Amino acid sequence: PTIYAITPTYSRPVQKAELTRLANTLRQVSRLHWILVEDAAARSELVSRFVAAAGLPCTHLHVPTPRRYKRPGLPRATEQRNAGLAWLRQRHQHLPPPQPGVLFFADDDNTYSLELFHEMRTTRKVSVWPVGLVGGRRYERPVVENGKVVGWYTGWRADRPFAIDMAGFAVSLQVILSHPKAVFKRRGSQPGMQESDFLKQITTVEELEPKANNCTKVLVWHTRTEKVNLANEPKYHLDTVNIELCAQS
Ligand code: UGA
Ligand code: MN
Repeated sequence: PTIYAITPTYSRPVQKAELTRLANTLRQVSRLHWILVEDAAARSELVSRFVAAAGLPCTHLHVPTPRRYKRPGLPRATEQRNAGLAWLRQRHQHLPPPQPGVLFFADDDNTYSLELFHEMRTTRKVSVWPVGLVGGRRYERPVVENGKVVGWYTGWRADRPFAIDMAGFAVSLQVILSHPKAVFKRRGSQPGMQESDFLKQITTVEELEPKANNCTKVLVWHTRTEKVNLANEPKYHLDTVNIELCAQS
């Protein structure tokens, strides 16, 4: 199967660094299609040029997050992930029978091992695995007994039906196509509940397929890039050349 990786991304000083690191990983994965979705009213020149030179199959989409949703404490990238889902569904609706595929949500700042992609490629419906450096712990993981998920080892809101980060699961293309209405929702979705709200629409805990040696190996890390210090940037642009560094330059 082809792996489809949906990556929401937005303009900021570290954007090109994040995308470079991610592309360097994804380029090493065979049969991978990258769906890069800019949080913007139009495709930026920076990302367009980046995609053209990335050296891997890539679809470049864009949709802006409505301003009212750009607030701390609200879920991020809802519209972008939905745009990726819509593209995937549209592309496959006229291609019967559905081509084998696996969908994975790859945020632009996480760290992905190559082994992770081997694991997720055998997803039949929905697969899950541990995520490192998340939930206020060194890792979170699905608790597995006799090959079945029976609970969640998590430091945060253990009452969530699927107590898992966006980086902790993959979904087969067939499940995405057979649940055409499954999307990320703004209404009623609190931050940290997006994953659960989405997974509830397409699967059950009993059905989950544990990967990474019964969820005992961390193959992906929820790393976050620190806010860059620009305290010494000149007020007026004094450099004489136009440096392509971030989307604002
Ligand atoms: C956590 C989860 O790991 C995310 O999957 C979830 O979307 C997020 O919380 C949330 O609060 O909704 P966190 O590291 O806090 O992640 O979030 P970011 O990495 O800042 O953002 C997640 C993705 O959305 C990234 O790929 C980022 O580039 C993108 N994003 C973020 C946008 O497209 N627009 C924004 O305004 C912010
Ligand atoms: Mn992140």
